[in-house]
Amino acid sequence: MTIKIDKDKRIFHLQTNTTSYLLQANEQGHLLHLYWGEKLETTFLDYYVSEIQRASYIADADGIPEYKLERLPVEYPSFGHPDLRSPAMTLKHRDGSRISDFRYVDYEVMKGHVAVSGQPCLTDEKAETLVITLMDAYQKLTMKQYYTVFVESDVMTRKVELVNEGSETVLIEQLNSACVELPHMNYDLVHLSGKWARERHLHRAPLTQNRQTVATRRGQSSHEHDPFIALVTPETTETTGEVYAMRLVYSGDYSATVDVDMQEALRLQIGLNPEQFEWNLKAGQSFITPEAVLVYTNGGLGKMGQVFQNTAQKHVVRGNFQYKERPVLINSWEAFYFDLKEKELLEFAKEAKELGVELFVLDDGWFGKRDDDSSSLGDWFVDKRKFPNGLRPFRDQIKDLGLQFGLWVEPEMVSPDSELFRAHPDWALEVTGRLRSLSRKQYVLDLTNPEVRDYLVNTFINLFKEVGVDYVKWDFNRSLTEAGSNYLPEEQQGEVYHRYVLGLYEIVEKITSAFPDVLFENCAGGGGRFDLGMTYYMPQTWTSDDTDAIERLAIQQGTSYLYPNASMGCHVSASPNHQNGRVTSLKTRGIVAMQGNFGYELDITNLTEEEKTEIKEQIALYKEIRPTVQFGTFTHLPTIEQDNAYAWQHADDRLVVVGYTQILSKANSPSKRLRLAGLPKQGRYKQKGTDKVYYGDELMRVGLQVERVTHDFYAQQWILEKQ
Ligand code: GLA
Repeated sequence: MTIKIDKDKRIFHLQTNTTSYLLQANEQGHLLHLYWGEKLETTFLDYYVSEIQRASYIADADGIPEYKLERLPVEYPSFGHPDLRSPAMTLKHRDGSRISDFRYVDYEVMKGHVAVSGQPCLTDEKAETLVITLMDAYQKLTMKQYYTVFVESDVMTRKVELVNEGSETVLIEQLNSACVELPHMNYDLVHLSGKWARERHLHRAPLTQNRQTVATRRGQSSHEHDPFIALVTPETTETTGEVYAMRLVYSGDYSATVDVDMQEALRLQIGLNPEQFEWNLKAGQSFITPEAVLVYTNGGLGKMGQVFQNTAQKHVVRGNFQYKERPVLINSWEAFYFDLKEKELLEFAKEAKELGVELFVLDDGWFGKRDDDSSSLGDWFVDKRKFPNGLRPFRDQIKDLGLQFGLWVEPEMVSPDSELFRAHPDWALEVTGRLRSLSRKQYVLDLTNPEVRDYLVNTFINLFKEVGVDYVKWDFNRSLTEAGSNYLPEEQQGEVYHRYVLGLYEIVEKITSAFPDVLFENCAGGGGRFDLGMTYYMPQTWTSDDTDAIERLAIQQGTSYLYPNASMGCHVSASPNHQNGRVTSLKTRGIVAMQGNFGYELDITNLTEEEKTEIKEQIALYKEIRPTVQFGTFTHLPTIEQDNAYAWQHADDRLVVVGYTQILSKANSPSKRLRLAGLPKQGRYKQKGTDKVYYGDELMRVGLQVERVTHDFYAQQWILEKQ
C-alpha cells in the first residue's frame, strides 16, 4: 500500500520506497501539511500540528479564539483569509475580492497516473493517485489536489484542478502546481541557471529571510533557469545529505519560489509564472495546472540526479525510442552553416559513413532562399538553387550510402521576408498598434490560433512524409515578446503565454505521433527549452550551442542532474572551437562528448588521416559502450581537483565507463586516484586494453589511478568489463 489513510483523523500518508509525505484535513476542513522526508513506516503524526509553537497576532480563523491559520502549515494556501503568507493561488472573483476559502470535502484513491488531454505528465499504470477534493462553497468552486505516487522510482507528482460550479467567470491569476511548507529555513537554495551557450550551471547559496525566485518570462522554459528548484541542508554534498527538489513538467513561463516567513518557516512552490498568466474560468469549465515533480532524498545531490534521470527516462520519455539506442549522428551546421552545396554535402556524408556515422542531419539553410538568418522561416519548401533536383532525391542518395536522413526545421517561427508572412501577417504574435520586435530577424507564430496550428500540423506531416525523414531537429530560436494574439478576444490576452504552450503541445503531439519511427530532437538555440514537457514528446535535446569540450563539462554536469544521458546531445566539433576559440585535442573532445548522446559537427572532409583514424576509433568505441552510456546508471565522481576537474561514471551489468577531464594542468601536483561508486563489492572488472582486474570494492575504496596530467584540457577514459 502506497497510500495509507486514517479515515477518522483524515490523515493521508503517501509512501515511496524511501520517502513519506503526510497531510491532514483538520476539523475545520483546512488541509494541512504534516511531513515530507525520509520514509516513516506506520505513523500518522496526529499530534504534529497541535505541538507547533508559533506566535501570531493575526486574526483568529473562523472566529475561533486562538485558531490562527498563519501558525499552521497550510497545504495549498490562499491569501488574506486570514493567512498573510505567500499564497499558492490567487483567484479574482466577480465581486472584486481575491479571498478564497477551500475546505475539505472528500478523497478518492485511483489506480495509475492522471492523464490530462493535451498536457505532458509522468506516466505509469502502476502508480497510485490520491485525489483530495475541496470546495469554496461561497464562490461555488471545486478544487482537486492530485498526488500521484511512483513507489519504485521514489517520486511523487502533484497538480491542481479548479472547476467553476458557479454561474460567473472567475479570473485565475495564480494557481501553483505544488506548495510545501518546511518548518525552518536552515537550507541552501540550489538551482541550475545560465544563458545562451552557458545553460544549466549549478548554483548554491544559503537562504535568507525573504523571497527567492527562479523563473522565466520568456515564453520558453529558457536558457536562463531550468524549471527546477531544490533546498539542501548546509552539510549536503554530492553523496550525502538531504535534498528537497521540485520540477515542473512545462515548457513555458514558470516560477519556483522559496518564501521564508516571519517565523522562519518556509514555503517552497512551483507553478505557472503568475506575472504573465491569467485565465478566465467560465461557468462550468475546469482548469488544470502543469504537473510538478517532487523528489526527496537523503543521498545528496548525486542521488537526486539519479532519481530525476531515472524518472525522466522511465515515466516521461515515451514511444519507440524510449530504450532504443540512439544513432551516432553528423550535423551539417558547424561544418557548412547556411552555405549548403549538394555535392559537398554528399562528399561529407560519404566520409561520415566511412568513419562509422549512422545518421546524417541537414541543418538550417535548405529551404526558401535562406542564405542567412534574415529570411524564409515559414517557407518550408526546398531551395532549388542548393538542391536542384529537390530534397527527396538528395535524401535518397544519403540513404543509398547507408545513412539515416535527418532534417532541421523551426516550425513555430516566421521571417518577415517569407511567403508565409506576406500571406498571413496576422498569424504572428503581436499587440495591435505596438512595435512587433524582431529577434534573430524573426517573429513567433500565434499558436493560440487553431488555424495556425492546423496549418503547421499539415505542413510538417506532409513535408516529413514527402522527404522521408528518419530524424527531425525541431528548433525554436527566439523568446516571445509583445505576446498578444490577433485571434483571442481582449479579455483573454492574459492567456496567450499559457495557450501558446498548450498549442505547441497539441502540434507536437499530432506530428510526433504521426511518425512513431522518426527520432525527434528538441532544440531552442541549444538548450533553451530543455524541459520535461518537451522531453515527453521528443526523446532527445540539443544540450547547448556551446560545443567547446571544456565549457561543456559544467553544462553537461548540470544537465545530467535532471535529464537522462540518452536525451543529452553532445557533439565533437572543430578545434579551435567556433564559440570560444579554445584549442583542445580530439581525444578530449571525444571523451567529453561520450558522456551523452554522441555525434559530430565539423567538416570531416578537411581532416588529416590520423584524425580520421581517431574518429573511426571513437565511433567504434562509442557503439560498444553506447547501451551503458545511454541507459546505465550515471554518477558524478568527486575529484580532489574540485572545480578544475570533472569525473563521471556510467555503469550497467556489462560495463563501467569512466571519464575524467582536468581543465588546467599543474606542475608537481599530488597523485590522484578516482574512486568509483555504486558497484557490487565482489564484482570483478577487467580494464579494457590491459590485463588489470579489480574488485568492485577496490574500485570504490582505492580507485583508479589518474595518469600524470601533462597539458591543459586533459582527458582520460577507462572502460571496465564486468567478468
Ligand atoms: C540554433 C541551433 C543550432 C543550429 C542553428 C541553425 O542555434 O541550436 O544547432 O541548428 O539554430 O540556425
